[in-house]
Amino acid sequence: MAALDSAAVQALAARLGPHFTLGVASAAFQIEGALSAGGRGPSGWDAFAAKPGSIRGGHSPAVACDHYHRAPEDVELMRALGVDSYRFSLSWPRIQPDGTGPFNAAGLDFYDRLIDRLLEAGISPMATLYHWDTPLPLEDRGGWLNRSTAERFAAYTAAAARRFGDRVAHWVTLNEPVSVTLNGYALGVHAPGHNLLFNALPAVHHQLLGHGMAVQALRAEAVTGAVGVTNLHSPVRPASGSVPDRLLARVFDLMLNRIYADPILLGHYPKPPLVARPWFRSLGRISDADLATIHQPLDFYGLNYYYPTKVGAGRGPAGYPAGRPEAMLKVPFYLAGFPEYDLTGFGWPVAPEHLGVLLRELKDRYADSLPPLYITESGASFPEPDHVTGPVPDAARIAYLASHLGSALAATAPGGIAEDVVLLGYYVWTLMDNFEWAAGYSQRFGLVHVDFTTLERTPKDSYYWLQALVRARRA
Ligand code: NOJ
Repeated sequence: MAALDSAAVQALAARLGPHFTLGVASAAFQIEGALSAGGRGPSGWDAFAAKPGSIRGGHSPAVACDHYHRAPEDVELMRALGVDSYRFSLSWPRIQPDGTGPFNAAGLDFYDRLIDRLLEAGISPMATLYHWDTPLPLEDRGGWLNRSTAERFAAYTAAAARRFGDRVAHWVTLNEPVSVTLNGYALGVHAPGHNLLFNALPAVHHQLLGHGMAVQALRAEAVTGAVGVTNLHSPVRPASGSVPDRLLARVFDLMLNRIYADPILLGHYPKPPLVARPWFRSLGRISDADLATIHQPLDFYGLNYYYPTKVGAGRGPAGYPAGRPEAMLKVPFYLAGFPEYDLTGFGWPVAPEHLGVLLRELKDRYADSLPPLYITESGASFPEPDHVTGPVPDAARIAYLASHLGSALAATAPGGIAEDVVLLGYYVWTLMDNFEWAAGYSQRFGLVHVDFTTLERTPKDSYYWLQALVRARRA
């Protein structure tokens, strides 16, 4: 790294408290490969990815980073990186191939060894129980549209808790239920590929129920670690101050953010604006008992932040496509851009200030019901070569990470706009380039470059930047 940057690294490190966690994150389906090795059963994502046209470039998740066979090497990369914690996900179909019935010893053993290796390397394990890979037999019975999936999820959680509950420091029940509902059940661009639009809302309720039951299972098994959930939050802004734009922004905020966080943190669903009520009808009548199950006390709240959303009514100025599919809201809408910001490789605005503002908004909305926070994902993809011979110069990623971490620290420092928010840590998405869902291998988010032909791992400049940050903090 250029000497020039070292002052910036020192300055950022000086703002991290001694107990602030720096980590990296991943997810089983995105890195493991080995989809039928060691007794793993198929997941809904295996089936979805096999359908022609579903994954960009026709890419296959079959090998991914082959982490299943290379976990020791990957733990070594993290040990050398020096991070405090690693957030990974347990693959439900690897642990319980049918989603019901017997547990798979080889699958449990794999995570057992991973957790032990992490601990031995001084890295604290944060385990996500559900990062989108529903066992296929359950998906075939409706997946999250079927209430019994919540019960199945709790049973699998209990088994994981019994096996790993003495060593996992942090448990995350669900990862981004909003992405599962919207992309998987409403729009059909992720597994399981349903196009239900607003009729997808039962998937919201059953995931939330699964979350609540999983928390109960973790508590009943007396796990030693802290328990939480990870939600994606995207601050929503209206394209203008007009009444239709503001109304749409409220509906989007409800759909993207509140419909998950309110029941978990407050114990009730948000009330849609009157004119939007018909769109939320498929949620059905929710019992108080279900709400009580969902509203479990949590030890922490996981926040994934990537970018803000701006929405407008109508067809939008030239260049902004009408929202897909418009029929979802029965009114034309468009997702407006943020011309003031640069874009990532995915075309997402780089808007670090919005992270600080989001922390303020969460505290305003949830007040004392907001548990201490971890930012469980933050990161960006940029175009990078498929094959490299040395560290990738990824200054844009370094700038992204430094500015987002900086924004969160500034907001939560004394005198900051969210000084009353307790922020415990920041996890970079992601350790290494991997299978980016429907985008295949086209989006590289890693601190470590992966050559998907040779599977060789090559740290990028951002890896060395994070290493320097960790060292500077400890120095
Ligand atoms: C959030 C998801 O949890 C993760 O799986 C995904 O790769 C990142 N967003 C980037 O899109």
